[in-house]
Amino acid sequence: MNPNTNKPFYITTPIYYPSGNPHIGHCYSTVFCDAIARYKRWQGYDVMFSTGTDEHGLKIQQKAEEEGLSPKEYVDGIAENFKRLWTYMNVSYDRFVRTTDDYHIETTQKIFQGLYDKGFIYKGEYSGPYCTPCESFWSEAQLDENGCCPECHRPVKDSRESAYFFKMNRFADRLTDLLLNTDYIRPENRAAELVSNFIKPGLEDLCVSRSSFSWGIPVPFDESHVVYVWIDALSNYISLLGYGNDCFNGDYDKYWQAAFHVTAKDIMRFHALIWPAILMALELPLPKKLYSHGFILTGNTKMSKSLGNVVDPFVLGERFGVDALRYQILRDMPYASDLPFSNENMLARINSDLANDYGNLVSRTVAMADKYFGGKLPDQREAAPLDDELISLTSGLSAKVDTLVDVPQLSLALAEIFKVISRANKYVDETEPWKLAKDSANNPRLASVLYNLLESLRITTSLLQPFIPNSAAKAAEQIGARGDCLSYENAGVWGVLPVQVAVKKGEIIFPRFDTAKELAELNNRSGD
Ligand code: MSP
Repeated sequence: MNPNTNKPFYITTPIYYPSGNPHIGHCYSTVFCDAIARYKRWQGYDVMFSTGTDEHGLKIQQKAEEEGLSPKEYVDGIAENFKRLWTYMNVSYDRFVRTTDDYHIETTQKIFQGLYDKGFIYKGEYSGPYCTPCESFWSEAQLDENGCCPECHRPVKDSRESAYFFKMNRFADRLTDLLLNTDYIRPENRAAELVSNFIKPGLEDLCVSRSSFSWGIPVPFDESHVVYVWIDALSNYISLLGYGNDCFNGDYDKYWQAAFHVTAKDIMRFHALIWPAILMALELPLPKKLYSHGFILTGNTKMSKSLGNVVDPFVLGERFGVDALRYQILRDMPYASDLPFSNENMLARINSDLANDYGNLVSRTVAMADKYFGGKLPDQREAAPLDDELISLTSGLSAKVDTLVDVPQLSLALAEIFKVISRANKYVDETEPWKLAKDSANNPRLASVLYNLLESLRITTSLLQPFIPNSAAKAAEQIGARGDCLSYENAGVWGVLPVQVAVKKGEIIFPRFDTAKELAELNNRSGD
């Protein structure tokens, strides 16, 4: 019996601002979560995977005005584009929350009221340098060297506003304990940074309402204010489980105990400090883990809608295929650091790993089984010592990948899978099946060699399913891995394919691209 069966697992992406259309930066977080969600489902967990859009705020109100639309009309359009992209990218989310959904509004108001009733929210006045595009008040000390916004580097202006505040400071000790004495934060080294940069200097109370614009959730006891971004946004993680509303019966009790948040580093601190403090104030359990990854960069700069330097995932998906794009970003983004995006790197990765190593191994193994044995292996076998290394490496692979996915080191997990694929390619060179095929006396040995290759492909393909689902399904079909051959339980077992396995020739799974030609086309497009 699989010990994971029916254990809950809850994974969340950030809810994205619909201030523009999604780009491959957003794709990274979402595809990252998708790969983990798929992996966990495959392991037998009962998974809830959520994503959504964070639709309130001045910036959205202004964008809508620019386009001559009401804020709701504007966000309806962009939220649809996010959903369209996730469907296109084969993202298997279970729930898409919009902060304009009624159930979310109800929960946010209950949370705000609850914090107020418990004495953690009070009315005060905010004053200081304010960045309108980022909707952020900053202290003088936080401004950049030109006295501008430290985030977008645009000018700030002095502003003053009556506002409600959340008493963050009350939770300084418990937050320090959470960061330093638990494994909530990944990468681990960020925890100490957060403590010394934000808690040690004194946690400031957090401004949680605005009265200068109206596009937001009304504060339940003071309609002249709307709830300001973080309480509204962060509450999504429990509103979509039915906390504080009557939808989704029972999901909060089932999944919240197993929550795993994924964000990029830009919003790590909100999830590391504000969110746990809100939950502590409400006396609710804390999420289990927060992983914050790096940025996809254009040149040296974060790819971002507001900087206008974004890469369109639909364009890349059309040219190279969705799985190739999923694979490249997951494989090349290092743990806890940034990925400078370039078409050159993407093409190199697709050509080397997917076309030359994996795709080619599938097609040549299947072609040999077809040519030498009419597509079905005979049952006589002859093992050789040369087989042992491939067999032991492949049999031990799923345990390694399990551990890396848990951490979550997806790039290294893929690297481990591709080490086995490279080893299998080397095994073809070592065993030279085409020479064995010259004399039918070698048939038992030839059948063993091909079976070992097919088994290596079965195990690597089963582990690749969460990362490149469509291509893995095609490969499985070709190598004759049917039924439960690709199950989690069978990923650590050698010899699962039937002795007389039947292969089926099919289309090339990952074509090789002519790099110079593709780059020229992509460069032409970016000039459009
Ligand atoms: N709405 C808030 C999040 C609220 S979560 C309760 C927000 N939205 S955002 O649209 O700006 O999205 C930020 C997130 O998008 C990042 O944390 C990251 O997950 C993803 N990314 C946006 N640009 C990215 C890159 N260039 N590279 C990697 N991830 C990127 O902040």
